[in-house]
Amino acid sequence: MYLKLSMEVYGLLVLPFFYLLISNGAEVVAFKNHELLSEVSQPYRTAYHFQPLKNWMNGPMYYKGVYHFFYQYNPYGALWGNISWGHSISYDLINWLLLDIALIPDQPYDINGCWSGSATISPNGEPMILYTGSDTNKHQVQNLAFPKNISDPLLTEWVKSSHNPLLSPPKGIDTSSYRDPSTAWMGTDGEWRVVIGSEIDHHGFAILYKSKDFIEWSRSSKPLHFSNKTMMWECPDFYPVSVHGKNGLDTSVQGKNIKHVLKASFLGSDYYIVGIYDPKTDQFDVDIDFMDSKTSLRYDYGKFYASKSFYDGEKKRRILWSWISEGDGETDDIKKGWSGLQSIPRSIWLSENGDQLVQWPVKELEKLRTQKVQYENIELKGGSVFEISGITASQADIEITFSLLNLDKAELLTAEAVDPQLLCTQKNVSVSGSLGPFGLLILASKDLTEHTAVFFRVFRGTNKFRLLMCADQSRSSLRSEVEKPTYGVLLDIDPHQEKISLRSLVLLLPIDHSIIESFGGDGLACITSRVYPKLAIDEQARLYAFNNGTRSLSILNLSAWSMKKAQIVPIGKRRKPIK
Ligand SMILES: *[C@@H]1O[C@H](CO)[C@@H](O)[C@H](O)[C@H]1NC(C)=O
Ligand SMILES: *[C@@H]1O[C@H](CO)[C@@H](O)[C@H](O)[C@H]1NC(C)=O
Ligand SMILES: *[C@@H]1O[C@H](CO)[C@@H](O)[C@H](O)[C@H]1NC(C)=O
Ligand SMILES: *[C@@H]1O[C@H](CO)[C@@H](O)[C@H](O)[C@H]1NC(C)=O
Ligand SMILES: *[C@@H]1O[C@H](CO)[C@@H](O)[C@H](O)[C@H]1NC(C)=O
Ligand SMILES: *[C@@H]1O[C@H](CO)[C@@H](O)[C@H](O)[C@H]1NC(C)=O
Repeated sequence: MYLKLSMEVYGLLVLPFFYLLISNGAEVVAFKNHELLSEVSQPYRTAYHFQPLKNWMNGPMYYKGVYHFFYQYNPYGALWGNISWGHSISYDLINWLLLDIALIPDQPYDINGCWSGSATISPNGEPMILYTGSDTNKHQVQNLAFPKNISDPLLTEWVKSSHNPLLSPPKGIDTSSYRDPSTAWMGTDGEWRVVIGSEIDHHGFAILYKSKDFIEWSRSSKPLHFSNKTMMWECPDFYPVSVHGKNGLDTSVQGKNIKHVLKASFLGSDYYIVGIYDPKTDQFDVDIDFMDSKTSLRYDYGKFYASKSFYDGEKKRRILWSWISEGDGETDDIKKGWSGLQSIPRSIWLSENGDQLVQWPVKELEKLRTQKVQYENIELKGGSVFEISGITASQADIEITFSLLNLDKAELLTAEAVDPQLLCTQKNVSVSGSLGPFGLLILASKDLTEHTAVFFRVFRGTNKFRLLMCADQSRSSLRSEVEKPTYGVLLDIDPHQEKISLRSLVLLLPIDHSIIESFGGDGLACITSRVYPKLAIDEQARLYAFNNGTRSLSILNLSAWSMKKAQIVPIGKRRKPIK
């Protein structure tokens, strides 16, 4: 039965190679989640976000025409445990083939879990994985694995190094705070560098190690960076970005017109800083440090944690994606049979003024766009609401360009240090301003008792304009037991301008049953929401645009598409189960 299912799906993939694979007798066995999912009604299961049964983030990579994605996976249940490395591959970052598990906890140095890590491609093109093992004593150690057969483009099987564990917690570092090796990069001296997330005296640290051969590592006398304003850092990521243009850079690139980004995961978010890195001295001079600015930079101001980036050499871009956890309870996860999913992969680059990143979903996502509706030059008077109909509002992609007139008539906001989340709660959709609130009501029930509002509000500051973007989930579900936060981010737009008469504002929103990813301010502000409506599910979900400010504005254009389901197909042979 599952073989039949898979064969049908293969027909859509148009990849002769996989017919070959199947006709060569590869045994196609459904994963447990597929068996399980057929029995349960699944209003929250996504259609085009990557989802295995259970996942957490590991190192993605691009190797010989194939995108590989490794993820933290529990083969035995919907909750965290028995952590292994799931492995999937894709040719377009949208449709996926689920392969066999790449790493299972079966050695003294990883028997309590094969935790997060990263893939690095060596100069001669060989992929290597560094990962954290939880050993027999539940101490965190770092291990190496490499492909069993380098000629296999799918890199199906992985072997653990006989040198493992390569690294154990040094003196002064807690054995339970030493994990998540980054992708390695090479310095001017030809030696590899890698950072490991840690905490020393309750301060977040990126411990720096160097190695000539990837086996023997020595700890650098100083960390790459640390912060006494944060605690434990998980999943550090460190990579170069071009000062000009959108092209991504390989992790080891050095030279002029480059800045570096350091990301660390803490306090439930992925925070990052931008600075100048010297590959000779390993000195990293940051522009604004973690928690030092009025709004500390985050990749995403909603649910988005333990992300990783990688360089896609084929398309010359750096791609970021992340684990998105659930906002319902463990009982719900067990009932659903799954927990956690992946964000849409995002291209990232440095903004023109060089002080933050810009993000946009990868172009390939557009392949899933189908039924389209389009509107142009619609005036949105103050207090108006209109329905965007003609698409599947629960599984959609929407791109809107708002056109704002008379920004100098915006409300005043002179205080520099404001909490955007609080501002979104106080100045909600019902609190009329001048320019805003305006935006969308998403996954809305017909009577609007359920909806998630993603909206903007423009403020006039001192010598600049500021844009508040909010995702208000307070009415996202009639279910009382699910999380319903309000997220917010405040951006300076058009600084050094007191008066501008017209400005356009682009908002892109992939919506997929229980996830809304909002890309606002042309990709400068991203908010991911997980929502669990009771009424606004499947065909019952609706979508509205609204303006509740006193001034009218216009929608220059609005395109909305129903989205096709991505193909996510198991092709792995069943491997021996975890003992
Ligand atoms: C881990 O796997 C074992 C089977 O080997 C299973 O009995 C146990 O429930 C699993 N634990 C979790 C948390 O899934
Ligand atoms: C390695 O992979 C290649 C390509 O898939 C295959 O032809 C070869 O037989 C494999 N070698 C081994 C030892 O499995
Ligand atoms: C925190 O670290 C900075 C250097 O990054 C140092 O100047 C400062 O004194 C430290 N503060 C505390 C309280 O340790
Ligand atoms: C909006 O905020 C006001 C007060 O700031 C509050 O009374 C009202 O209930 C809120 N409405 C919504 C829809 O959250
Ligand atoms: C606009 O605000 C009014 C109250 O001022 C509120 O009743 C209405 O629900 C709001 N509209 C939307 C679309 O939230
Ligand atoms: C909307 O209009 C802008 C400006 O004309 C254009 O750049 C953009 O591609 C249009 N977007 C859509 C989705 O049609």
